Amino acid sequence: MKRVKIESLDHQGRGIARIDHKIVFLPNALPGEIVEIEITKEKKNFSEGKVLHYLEESKDRIPSTCPYYPSCGGCQLLHIPYSKQLEYKEEKMRNILTRYQLGDIPLKKIVGSPKETHYRNKVTFQVQNGKLGYFEENSYHFIPISSCLLLDNKINDTIKSLPAKGEKVVVRSNEKEITYQKDKKILYTIGKYQFLVSLESFFQVNDSITPLLYGKVKEYLHPTLEDTVLDLYCGTGTIGIFVSDSVKKVIGIEKCEEAIRNAKENALLNHVANIEFFCGDAGIEASKLKESITSIIIDPPRSGLNKQTLDILLKISPKKIVYVSCDPMTFVRDLNLLKEDYHIEEITPFDMFPNTYHVENIAFLHKK
Ligand SMILES: C[S@@+](CC[C@H](N)C(=O)[O-])C[C@H]1O[C@@H](n2cnc3c(N)ncnc32)[C@H](O)[C@@H]1O
Repeated sequence: MKRVKIESLDHQGRGIARIDHKIVFLPNALPGEIVEIEITKEKKNFSEGKVLHYLEESKDRIPSTCPYYPSCGGCQLLHIPYSKQLEYKEEKMRNILTRYQLGDIPLKKIVGSPKETHYRNKVTFQVQNGKLGYFEENSYHFIPISSCLLLDNKINDTIKSLPAKGEKVVVRSNEKEITYQKDKKILYTIGKYQFLVSLESFFQVNDSITPLLYGKVKEYLHPTLEDTVLDLYCGTGTIGIFVSDSVKKVIGIEKCEEAIRNAKENALLNHVANIEFFCGDAGIEASKLKESITSIIIDPPRSGLNKQTLDILLKISPKKIVYVSCDPMTFVRDLNLLKEDYHIEEITPFDMFPNTYHVENIAFLHKK
């Protein structure tokens, strides 16, 4: 057992301490706290550990109200008040931008989530011995769950009655209902639009903040009725449909066939006629386009843009790019690859995932 003082927080919300100059990462530990710890993993350049006793607690610490915290690994910041979580995420973005030579880009105040708990409209439960639960982070250790602080309470209320069969059970909910059936679609309302979404198609997990996120995308797009917009990684057509009333035309590209089926249905449902969808890889489909594109919205998975997609983007050379990202590290990597040709005008972080270390960002880029 060792005694250490926590110096700061890392990008995953873990406390950082030092033992003989070697860094130790400690979940559920706050700057200024003096704690007794046990080392759980020893690597060449750093160690990982867990706190056994809190000898001096931070004044910022709040008691976690979840019986599975922190072992389930889904939340990392439940011991921090929400206002401090927002400060932490904004600071983390500032540090990442500075470290990757993007520190001069104006970073706006982070937009907080209207819901701080029970915001998730989708979950994938693991199944073991007829029970639903989660795997501990980075492990296959199963934790049965009877209720989760991040999940929509309609999902929590049905956990006991869900069929715990197969390897996994995916559940999706909206304001009125839940489904775990592949052939059933759930309807979401964002602003004046409605979106039908199949169980496995992508939809933003926290629909309380999604109207704010899409509103900022539209603002950054500076749309005009002369614009032809490419909505890359368009999912069920959400963002493209959301901006369609302010531009000449939208083209959506998405590789998931079911999501593209939803997208086409959503265009009809919302009476949007100036939108077209293509199913396939973002880079490959974009390279086939004949039309002149003025603006591109990019909302890729965590891996960000691959080289082919980035090259196509630079070849299309739109006047405006709006980049929506759920992974700060691939976001700064891609911004650095775009910054020779584009001014990066502004970035706004969004707290799509309260109580976790994750942060969503939107950047507005303008052709030099
Ligand atoms: C973060 S989601 C964005 C969805 C949509 N913009 C929204 O807000 O609902 C990323 C989407 O990219 C799709 N995707 C992943 N890799 C892709 C690829 N190589 N080409 C095209 N789409 C891809 C996923 O299926 C997913 O729907």
